[in-house]
Amino acid sequence: MLRKAVREKKPAAQGGPMNEFRERPQPDVKESLQTVLSRLPDFVHEFYGMLFAEHPGLRPMFSDDMVQQRNNLVTALALVAKYVENVRVLEIPLRELGARHLAYGARPEHYPIVRDTMLRAMRKVAGPEWTPAVDQAWADALAAVSEIMMLGASEVGRNLAA
Ligand code: HEM
Repeated sequence: MLRKAVREKKPAAQGGPMNEFRERPQPDVKESLQTVLSRLPDFVHEFYGMLFAEHPGLRPMFSDDMVQQRNNLVTALALVAKYVENVRVLEIPLRELGARHLAYGARPEHYPIVRDTMLRAMRKVAGPEWTPAVDQAWADALAAVSEIMMLGASEVGRNLAA
């Protein structure tokens, strides 16, 4: 579906500076997001279950409210999926998200942990529908999103130090 939509996009001249990125055929990230969202309780359970079992030190950073945890995860995944298509538009909101994460206690060394846990939880709940191309697209997008968030956090850190 998504691949078809990308192929049918308007001519290159109308696409703006990130046109080249958007015109590149993308694996079906949106569809894979829908698969994960259709199994949301499993995904939430897998993600927080693995995260807190493997990194108990992170537990106090997160609220006990399961509804909030679920909503945060859905927002996070939707942002990353959106990023695949519209990288530039999200730059400022992602920097701000990174800055808020500084207040949550998130540090650069936590990002690979959370990224890896998200990916493993998605793989697990999606099962065979999760193709290697989709996996790679999510891994790339998560890495890029984390970079921008950490940039936003480091700017806050610098301003505080100044
Ligand atoms: C790919 C990277 C990440 C994304 C896209 C992401 C996204 C989000 C979003 C959308 C929220 C909702 C609150 C808000 O908008 O400010 C949130 C909350 C939160 N995130 Fe992240 N996050 C990421 C990485 C991390 C990392 C590395 C940590 C550190 C362990 C972390 C810890 C938290 C905490 C503690 C909260 C508040 C949760 C609560 O109140 O229960 N996140 N995140």
